Amino acid sequence: MNDNNSVTKKICEILGNTSRKACVRSFGCQLNVSDGEKIKGLLSDMGCDFTDDETEADIIILNTCAVRESAEDRIFGILGSMKKLKELKPSLIIGVSGCMTAQSHAAEKIRKSYPHVSFVMGTSAISSLPKLLLDCIQGTKFASDISEYDDFSATVRQVRESSFKASVPIMFGCNNFCTYCIVPYVRGRERSRQPDDIINEVRELVQNGYKEIMLLGQNVNSYGSDLGGKMSFPQLLRELDAIDGDFIIRFMSSHPKDATTELIDAIFECGKVAKHLHLPLQSGSSSVLERMNRRYTAEKYLETVDCIRQRDPDFSLTTDIIVGFPNETDGEFRATLDIMKRVEYDNIYSFIYSKRSGTKAAEMEDMTSEEEKSCRMRELLAVQREISSEHYKRFIGRTMRVLVDDVSKKREGFLTGKSSEFIIVEFEGEPSLIGSFAQVKITEAMNWAVRGELIK
Ligand code: 5AD
Ligand code: SF4
Repeated sequence: MNDNNSVTKKICEILGNTSRKACVRSFGCQLNVSDGEKIKGLLSDMGCDFTDDETEADIIILNTCAVRESAEDRIFGILGSMKKLKELKPSLIIGVSGCMTAQSHAAEKIRKSYPHVSFVMGTSAISSLPKLLLDCIQGTKFASDISEYDDFSATVRQVRESSFKASVPIMFGCNNFCTYCIVPYVRGRERSRQPDDIINEVRELVQNGYKEIMLLGQNVNSYGSDLGGKMSFPQLLRELDAIDGDFIIRFMSSHPKDATTELIDAIFECGKVAKHLHLPLQSGSSSVLERMNRRYTAEKYLETVDCIRQRDPDFSLTTDIIVGFPNETDGEFRATLDIMKRVEYDNIYSFIYSKRSGTKAAEMEDMTSEEEKSCRMRELLAVQREISSEHYKRFIGRTMRVLVDDVSKKREGFLTGKSSEFIIVEFEGEPSLIGSFAQVKITEAMNWAVRGELIK
């Protein structure tokens, strides 16, 4: 997309001095949020300002997620409600980007049932945004680009939501084809960014005052497998750890099948890497894991956990769990609860299985009722609440280093932040601390956070 600059220039000329307001709403995972920040980068180059209020926007872009049906339904609901906005302001440009656009049934439904949508832009076509907008401004009724470009968009400047926390995509796509998951179909095969580009970007972010760098990829552990041995993920962690400055490195997500001892060594040896690993289990039953094509067993997963906990018994682990995978039996579900109790996760992200057309699991027979699945989900959440409140007690009396995030929405005069272990920490303090590290002595454990006192 080498002609991007000239298209951007042309749009600026057409728009002249009239200021355009854009509203970009991203849904789903952090990679999608990061794409939303790139979309904002391109819009900002075209002279747009941003608003969260759709009624005052001239351009609205819904950056969608397709991982679960509920996410899709929500987008269709929002799109329906936008018909009125378009009637009130016929010049309004409404665009849809993100994973939903790569699913033919969803793209078709958008085109047919929501004629007020002006354009659709695929996940690998973000860099075509200026061209799509130009088409819309020049009168095209429905512009669309869902092509698979190389990831030119990796170099697009991001307009970041935060001035101290930055996400940095290190790779795109996924090769794993877990049978429930739509991602490999909508995001394509794995492509790793060049190590130097990542290292330079992180160095610049740190120089600009960023305190938390979140490395993103669907499976960061396989970073570099397409780079001909140039660099692996543990090597990349070491390179980033060597950058001067006071900052913390996080990463997401790690596939358990690729969580090697080399990775665990790097986590423990790199002082800037957080003492936390998000290791999606999905199910604690080896038979379900096989049906999910996860390529590890429950035993193998526990070996990895043991390897980590032998080095640090308090190391923080979080996970993703799917409840009600096709024909999950009660015994298979209980195997998941058993692993949760054994591992003592600090937090879990749990989802009821959602059928995604085009995936292998969508073809599987499923005799488990929705009612039973909801019942299992309630039980799982209750078990985790108990684990968290017990497990968080280990921090009482300790001093935690916290990156202060925001003022607390729950308690006036209090601030909230995250410790290296990714635990929410609440304490009394001045908002001027937001964006810096604070030392907090923990006095109380709840089931969603810990509380403490600021050490001055
Ligand atoms: N149904 C429910 N949860 C899903 N996830 C991915 N696909 C599905 C699906 N079809 C969950 C997995 C993954 C997380 C990002 O979303 O737990 O780790
Ligand atoms: Fe989906 Fe599995 Fe790839 Fe994660 S590793 S994005 S769950 S296919």
